[in-house]
Amino acid sequence: MKNKNIVWHETNIRKEEREALLNQRGVVLWFTGLSGSGKSTIANAVEKKLYEAGRLTYLLDGDNIRCGLNNDLGFNLNDRAENIRRIAEVGKLFIDSGIITLVAFISPTIKDREIAKKIIGDKFIEIFVDCTIDTCIDRDPKGLYKKAKMGEIKHFTGIDSPYEKPVTPEIVVHSDSQSVDECRVDIIQYLISRGVIK
Ligand SMILES: Nc1ncnc2c1ncn2[C@@H]1O[C@H](COP(=O)(O)OP(=O)(O)OP(=O)(O)O)[C@@H](O)[C@H]1O
Ligand SMILES: [Mg+2]
Repeated sequence: MKNKNIVWHETNIRKEEREALLNQRGVVLWFTGLSGSGKSTIANAVEKKLYEAGRLTYLLDGDNIRCGLNNDLGFNLNDRAENIRRIAEVGKLFIDSGIITLVAFISPTIKDREIAKKIIGDKFIEIFVDCTIDTCIDRDPKGLYKKAKMGEIKHFTGIDSPYEKPVTPEIVVHSDSQSVDECRVDIIQYLISRGVIK
């Protein structure tokens, strides 16, 4: 807390009460992986299944958040870190609301994901969408690898900027050998095993 005149005001309704109302636990499913690995595709598939099962969810997708909340941020190291910090703080609020929150950001560095984990706490569920760079380049759904290779985009993850794989993610899906449906099933099974949903 930077300003000593800011005083936290306790709320009447607690997270546990909101969770009881929703019959679920608030968590953040943090998808990380290369561009084109399938974070958005798989997160959308998981969210759709949860929605159909009557769960309250929200998807915070990298590009979408950069259109609004984070539209003042670029792609240098400081801005990337601030991008992650803000989304982790938003995720923390969503957890408090009892919502199952899906975050789909490349989030390439271990350090930044550690910061997110520290902000969010034990409701942070890291999902590594593992996919070879060659497959991502072949898919290139946004044409970004093509631009990066032609030098039109600098510091592009996997081309001229590193991606650091998670060391102990809660879930790993292999989107180059598993189908979207198989990845989705693995994630939903994990949520059931953790008691997030029944
Ligand atoms: N098993 C799979 N899982 C996920 N996506 C797959 C799979 N097989 C093929 N795809 C395709 O790969 C592409 C993945 O693109 P997507 O936008 O989801 O990636 P992303 O990780 O969100 O990238 P970015 O970081 O740029 O937002 C889509 O066109 C999707 O249809
Ligand atoms: Mg995406």
